[in-house]
Amino acid sequence: MRKTAVFQLNIATFVIFVSGCLLMLIFRQTVKPETADTISHGDDSQKALTEHMSVNDILTSTKNSTNKPPLKLILLWNAMSPELSDNPFITFNCPITTCLFTADMSLIHLSDVVLLRIDVLEDMPLNRLPHQRFVFLHIESPISTKLSIMDNPRFRYNYFNWTMTYRRDSDIFLRDYYGSVLPHDSMKGNDTSQRKKFEKELIGKEVMDNDTDLAAIIRGKNKMVAWFVSHCSTLIRREEYARQLGQYVPVDIFGNCTKECPTDCYQMLRTDYKFYLAFENSWCPDYVTEKFIRPLFYHAVPIVLGGADYSHFAPPHSYINVRDFGSPKELADYLILLNNTETLYASYFDWKKDYEVVRTDMSGWCDLCQLAHNDSLPVKVYPDIKQWWMLGEAACEYNSTKHF
Ligand SMILES: *[C@@H]1O[C@H](CO)[C@@H](O)[C@H](O)[C@H]1NC(C)=O
Ligand SMILES: *[C@@H]1O[C@H](CO)[C@@H](O)[C@H](O)[C@H]1NC(C)=O
Ligand SMILES: *[C@@H]1O[C@H](CO)[C@@H](O)[C@H](O)[C@H]1NC(C)=O
Ligand SMILES: *[C@@H]1O[C@H](CO)[C@@H](O)[C@H](O)[C@H]1NC(C)=O
Ligand SMILES: *[C@@H]1O[C@H](CO)[C@@H](O)[C@H](O)[C@H]1NC(C)=O
Ligand SMILES: *[C@@H]1O[C@H](CO)[C@@H](O)[C@H](O)[C@H]1NC(C)=O
Ligand SMILES: *[C@@H]1O[C@H](CO)[C@@H](O)[C@H](O)[C@H]1NC(C)=O
Ligand SMILES: *[C@@H]1O[C@H](CO)[C@@H](O)[C@H](O)[C@H]1NC(C)=O
Repeated sequence: MRKTAVFQLNIATFVIFVSGCLLMLIFRQTVKPETADTISHGDDSQKALTEHMSVNDILTSTKNSTNKPPLKLILLWNAMSPELSDNPFITFNCPITTCLFTADMSLIHLSDVVLLRIDVLEDMPLNRLPHQRFVFLHIESPISTKLSIMDNPRFRYNYFNWTMTYRRDSDIFLRDYYGSVLPHDSMKGNDTSQRKKFEKELIGKEVMDNDTDLAAIIRGKNKMVAWFVSHCSTLIRREEYARQLGQYVPVDIFGNCTKECPTDCYQMLRTDYKFYLAFENSWCPDYVTEKFIRPLFYHAVPIVLGGADYSHFAPPHSYINVRDFGSPKELADYLILLNNTETLYASYFDWKKDYEVVRTDMSGWCDLCQLAHNDSLPVKVYPDIKQWWMLGEAACEYNSTKHF
């Protein structure tokens, strides 16, 4: 029997891997995975993993079990690193956990789902089986999409079966490390301790999940607007808006383009700053990143500038949208009004009674496993993925001169 290295059999581990890679890119720091606290979810995959069965063995042995769904194999094609973390992990309480992730491309003929991370990959599989779903996985905005792939007719037309992106109209809606704001109700009864532990590993010292006296934190803030930014110049000239706003209210800019934070950036945001510029680097439908979710978590009011309808991503009265104001001066006047009216400013936190900020929302990975198991889903193919992803209604806005 052929022995094949299966790196890890659990969604969560895969997620640690993906998030790890992303974080390495973004924060340039490595992730320290959880140490030996294996979570048992009662299926055979964990046992199989520890006994080093081959993927073939695992798949055939589960096909015969009567009371369990068989495992689905999900291949991460051309992963940035072939090595999935082999340390144990964490559960996200996925309703279905019987999926098996691998980065071993030689297993493509056994895979049910093939994930193609378009913003990083170099080549694409050409052979496929009819039941397989090829997934267009994209974490960043179309600004970083390789046109060489989008414009290649072989991949552009009738190649992808599913999409997995931050767009709400994707087959699998993925927020991942961007995070989400979710109603407390939807979390009721869920064990969130593992997720919090996971976030602690990822985000380390930034973690601050026991603020008991929110009102005191809000009252204690004595600075106006902060902005942490590393890309100094953008096509949509967000830096120009920040500059104009800064003529009317203090805007403290930290990061690569100016000066580093004197202390931990997010702690400073939490204790000192009333507002945060949550300006995305590109204006694309639904493109709302951690730039928006982080200030919500750290008790600063995000001032958003992006291409999304933000009402889909956070409750009313939790943020301020630049597009609601005619000019930087008008926005500045409103910020000064809030600064001078304690109750009005405090009302921007009322939503915290009913909602929770989840900085890593892995429900998309759960959904992927669930879809992989749903045999009644119809055959699906995207006739023109470029059209869907970046043309027409999906196009990003590049010209900001009509706004400022
Ligand atoms: C699965 O079941 C079939 C028919 O019941 C049997 O012939 C086969 O040996 C079983 N395979 C495994 C791996 O148990
Ligand atoms: C809470 O658990 C339920 C049932 O498992 C699940 O459907 C829901 O998505 C979970 N909510 C969150 C926020 O994890
Ligand atoms: C949060 O809780 C931990 C443990 O209970 C404590 O050590 C820490 O000081 C608390 N942080 C704040 C800001 O209250
Ligand atoms: C830092 O700023 C420089 C100059 O604008 C830019 O070239 C570089 O990409 C920035 N670094 C990061 C990490 O964004
Ligand atoms: C904000 O309010 C504080 C305290 O009332 C005041 O000292 C400060 O000057 C105000 N800032 C602006 C820009 O109005
Ligand atoms: C499978 O997909 C169909 C069609 O979308 C849906 O109606 C059904 O509820 C799904 N079944 C499961 C078990 O998720
Ligand atoms: C996936 O797309 C291919 C290529 O268009 C198509 O032949 C196949 O039927 C699709 N498979 C599913 C399961 O949708
Ligand atoms: C951007 O928009 C402005 C105002 O609507 C217009 O005058 C200008 O020509 C546009 N620039 C480009 C490059 O399309």
